[in-house]
Amino acid sequence: MDHFLYQNGVLHAEEVAIPEIAASVGTPFYVYSTATLTRHYQLFDDALDGMDHLVCYAMKANSNQAVLRLMASLGAGVDVVSGGEYRRARAAGFSGDRIVFSGVGKTVEEMELALTGGIRQFNIESEPEMVALSEVASRLGVSVPITVRVKPDVDAKTHEKIATGKSENKFGIPIAKARDVYRQAATLPGLEVIGIDVHIGSQLTELEPFETAYLKVAELTEELRSDGHDIRRLDLGGGLGIPYERSNEAPPLPTDYGEVVRRTVGHLGCEIEIEPGRLIAGNAGLLVASTIYVKEGEGRDFLILDAAMNDLIRPAMYSAFHDIFPVIEPDAGAEYAPIDIVGPVCETGDTFTRQRPMPPVEAGDLIAFRSAGAYGAVMSSEYNSRPLIPEVLVHGDQFDVIRARPTYEDMINRDSIPAWLEGLD
Ligand code: LLP
Repeated sequence: MDHFLYQNGVLHAEEVAIPEIAASVGTPFYVYSTATLTRHYQLFDDALDGMDHLVCYAMKANSNQAVLRLMASLGAGVDVVSGGEYRRARAAGFSGDRIVFSGVGKTVEEMELALTGGIRQFNIESEPEMVALSEVASRLGVSVPITVRVKPDVDAKTHEKIATGKSENKFGIPIAKARDVYRQAATLPGLEVIGIDVHIGSQLTELEPFETAYLKVAELTEELRSDGHDIRRLDLGGGLGIPYERSNEAPPLPTDYGEVVRRTVGHLGCEIEIEPGRLIAGNAGLLVASTIYVKEGEGRDFLILDAAMNDLIRPAMYSAFHDIFPVIEPDAGAEYAPIDIVGPVCETGDTFTRQRPMPPVEAGDLIAFRSAGAYGAVMSSEYNSRPLIPEVLVHGDQFDVIRARPTYEDMINRDSIPAWLEGLD
C-alpha cells in the first residue's frame, strides 16, 4: 500500500497535503511516511516469522533520529558502519545488544566506542581488522562476539558501484579462505566466533543471487561446525531492491525473500539477522521541489527546479531513475511532452533526467520525486553553498519537522578565519 496518493487532485503524504508542508517549511524538503516505514519493517519481520531472527535496519539508508527512534520502537536492531552511526543509534534509543557493527575500515577508536558502549556483534572484514579488534578487546578485558564477512563471489546483477559480493570488491574475505581465517580467529584472545556474515550488494531485483550466496553460506556453516566452531548466528545482509520505475519493475517481495532464507539456511538452527535499508526507507520518502523556471531551449526544454544534485545525488552518481511528477494531479487529458529536469547547480551533471515525458508544468509548481527516502538526505551536501534541506515526518494527519533547514549563518559560521587573515581586506 502506498501512502503518497492524490486526494481530490492534491498529493498527500498519509493524510497531509504536500502543499501544506511546502507552505510551512519551504522547498525543497524531504518528507517521510511513518505508516510506510512501519509497514516495510513489519514485512521483513513477518517474512522471517517462525525463525529466531532480528531485522537490523541498515541506518546508512536514512539515519534521521526520528526514523531511528521509530525503528527502535518497532523492535528492530540496527546495522552501523561508523562511530557516527553508532552514536546516532545510541542517541535514538538502541541498546548496545541491538547494534551490529559492519564496515571495511573500522578504526581502533570506533572499536573502543562500541566495546565500552555495548555491541551485539562485530562483522569482521579482514585479518588485520580481526587482530586489531582482538587487541582492543583484550586491553579492555572483554570478549566480543564476531562474525566474519565472506565474499561468496556472486554477481548481484546490480549497479557496479553498489555490488559487493564479487571477489574483486573490497568487502569481506574470499569464501575460499574462510576456514583459515576462522581458524586464526579462534586463537585470538578477546574474540568469540559466533557466526558468518554476508552482504552481496544493494538494489538487487532478483532472488537468484541471494539464493546462490546463502547456499554457499549454508555449506560453510557445516564446514566450520565440523572444524569445531560454534556457528549459531547468520547475518545475511541487506540488498533487496525496490521498484523505482513502477511501470516496468516488480522486484521480489520480502515474503519471497523470506522463503529463500528459509529454504537455504532455515535447517541450520541459526539465529538469522538481516540488514535491509533501502526497502524500509526508500519508498517511504519523497523529495519535494518547486519549479523555478521552464526554459525553452533549442530542440529541448528544461524544467529548472530548486532541488539539485547536492540534495539528491543518486541520478548523477548512479544514473538512477526516480519517478518525478507534479504535486497537483494533471488533468485526465493532459498532454505529456519530453523535457529535461535539472537543478540550479553549476554543472551538467546536475541533471535528474533527460527527455522525461511530463504534463504541462509552470514556474512555481510543486514537483515530487518518489523513492527518495533511502540514500537521499543522508547523501546530501552543501555543494554550491546550498544549505541542507529539511526533513519532515508525517504521522496520520500531522507532520513534524525532524531536521530543520539550517540558516545561512549556520552554514557560514562553521568556517573560521585564521588570526593572520583577520583584518585583511
Ligand atoms: N548491509 C551492508 C553491509 C551494506 O553495505 C548495505 C548497503 C546494507 C546492509 C543495506 O543495503 P540495502 O538494503 O539498503 O540495499 N548509496 C547507494 C546504495 C549503497 C548501499 C551500500 N550498502 C544508492 O543510493 O543506491
